[in-house]
Amino acid sequence: MADDPVIQTEDLTKIFEKGKKREVIALDSVNLEVERGEVFGLLGPNGAGKTTLIRLLVGLLTPTRGKAIVLGKDVTKDINYIRERVALLPQEAGIYERLTARENLVYYGGFYGIPEEELHKRADRLLDLVGLRKKEDYQVKGFSGGMKRKVLVARALIIEPQIIFMDEPTTGIDTLGARIVRNTLKKLSEEEKQTIILTTHDLNEVSELCDRVGILNEGRLVEIGKPQELEEKFKAANLEDVFTGLVTGEGVFRE
Ligand SMILES: Nc1ncnc2c1ncn2[C@@H]1O[C@H](COP(=O)(O)OP(=O)(O)OP(=O)(O)O)[C@@H](O)[C@H]1O
Ligand SMILES: [Mg+2]
Repeated sequence: MADDPVIQTEDLTKIFEKGKKREVIALDSVNLEVERGEVFGLLGPNGAGKTTLIRLLVGLLTPTRGKAIVLGKDVTKDINYIRERVALLPQEAGIYERLTARENLVYYGGFYGIPEEELHKRADRLLDLVGLRKKEDYQVKGFSGGMKRKVLVARALIIEPQIIFMDEPTTGIDTLGARIVRNTLKKLSEEEKQTIILTTHDLNEVSELCDRVGILNEGRLVEIGKPQELEEKFKAANLEDVFTGLVTGEGVFRE
């Protein structure tokens, strides 16, 4: 299937505190391929390894074993090449509290050497996209949690990345805010063929947004496929039943 994979992993493994009593196998021999233009969802309970996988793919962690190729480059060798071309919306993100919404975008984009005039043009579009145009000149420290998240989504996009990694982009946002973020991602995917890797605990979000989904449990990729395929494979009524069955070990087959 994969004629233009932007991500390929081979037995990708991350062990924290290796050899010590507190050793944790956070990611265990994961083989994954994501194609350009795909929206790929990572699902799994707390501690399943979702954030670890993302951190490995953007070079914030080094693998204990195995390989990760992103945009054709090995994350352990060409991390600067990758970092210039991918965006990360971290689960716990560092926002610049004392800057305004617009300044957050422009300042961040400045690190990538994009001219200021261009950054302002992009900021216009992105602030419109997330619905923060009217608040663009307010300091972010007065923003609600959801508004901050929208700033971070816009900030991640300012570099026009080839891949966007989003770790729980809608967690902690109200229903309307989450809808705005989801619609933004949908638009990016449909109109700009943006490749997006996202993690979420919201199964509706996966069904609505994702072309394919991978389910992680205790560091292992236990299932991968289109949301509908997984439902059919497990004869489940919906993705939630697939997910619950897999991670509880109770199975998902229903008669
Ligand atoms: N820096 C670290 N040092 C030690 N253990 C870690 C570290 N980072 C993660 N872990 C462990 O690795 C495992 C996977 O964690 P990870 O953050 O990837 O889970 P997650 O799927 O993102 O969970 P959540 O849904 O809660 O965000 C957990 O057992 C966690 O405690
Ligand atoms: Mg996480």
